[in-house]
Amino acid sequence: METKLIQMDNIKAQKEALYAAGELIRAGEVVAFPTETVYGLGANGLDADACAKIYQAKGRPSDNPLILHVANRSMIDQIVAKVPDKAEKLMAAFCPGPLTLILPRKSIVPDRITGGLATVGVRMPENDVARALITASGVPIAAPSANISGRPSPTTAKSVLVDMKGKIPLILDGGACDFGVESTIVDAAGDKAVILRPGAITKEMLEEVLGEGNVVIDPALVGADSIPRAPGMKYTHYAPKAPLIMLEGMPTRMIRAFQREIERLQKEGHRVGVIASHEVLKGLQDLVPKDLMADYGHQGQLSAIAANIYEALRSFDDKDADILLGEGTTAEGLGLAIMNRLHKASGFQTIQV
Ligand code: TXA
Ligand code: MG
Repeated sequence: METKLIQMDNIKAQKEALYAAGELIRAGEVVAFPTETVYGLGANGLDADACAKIYQAKGRPSDNPLILHVANRSMIDQIVAKVPDKAEKLMAAFCPGPLTLILPRKSIVPDRITGGLATVGVRMPENDVARALITASGVPIAAPSANISGRPSPTTAKSVLVDMKGKIPLILDGGACDFGVESTIVDAAGDKAVILRPGAITKEMLEEVLGEGNVVIDPALVGADSIPRAPGMKYTHYAPKAPLIMLEGMPTRMIRAFQREIERLQKEGHRVGVIASHEVLKGLQDLVPKDLMADYGHQGQLSAIAANIYEALRSFDDKDADILLGEGTTAEGLGLAIMNRLHKASGFQTIQV
């Protein structure tokens, strides 16, 4: 199959492209599109056969449910049985935006996309192209991140093409994604709001709306032993092709710690790649060739680091590094989402510095 890529820099001028994309979705095909978090791989969320094509293109385990993307409130009421009070509050505060709410579903939502769960994940994206695509399709769009299962999520159309070339008919290119990590998933179906996946809507932001004590983090996100309630969080994820080891601790000790590890690994004959801040990379110039360094932004600037992290991991795909070292950030605020992804990408291999 030929995969078309259409630049969407001027949404008004691109009416035809949006119409064609909407037609494809209604015809049961898969279209990749930008959101403010990461690129999504979209299909008609009310059509189980169309969604089966998503699982196939990604190589995704069939028990891992898809979330549904909506453009407005009436689409939510079409798929959700009941919107609890706290979900109303969260929607008023954060939708459209990088938040997915787990809510009781209606039977119109096919079993195959919820993995048989009684709930459905609902997200109202803010990105213009995403919203225009949902509107042009006229249906809720099921969309996981547009990567091959287990790989870092794509935050550029080019990265979508790397993973999806020949597998889907169309990619809408809306440029680089703003946030760069997937939406915060909050289970709002029960008593307390439970964060199943951290994202740009932080625990602190949720508490501001719901009150302290009313927001908890799924224990499985902190300990490595219990089973996460978001089925997808149990799989290997975000992994670069070479193994990744994280260095975590005091920013002031980072350069020295990296130098030590790099020297040790190079002595063993390894080609070491480094994913780190501008500041740390500057201290490693004599040890690591430039093409084996990926700069994720300035130390402590978490929004920029989140926006760059997946492309930084992917930048080693066609390099010959056989081991990667990554610099950890704080786990506060947006740092919780960044470190959640990096811990998964590294299979929890960490050196404390
Ligand atoms: O930012 C995002 O959320 C992106 C963009 C494209 O919108 N989408 C995304 O989808 O990250 P995906 O499929 O890669 O991640 C969705 C996660 C999976 O871990 C899945 O297991 C979980 O949401 N999930 C889906 N439905 C669920 C449900 N009913 N209960 C609990 N977890 C659910
Ligand atoms: Mg994903």
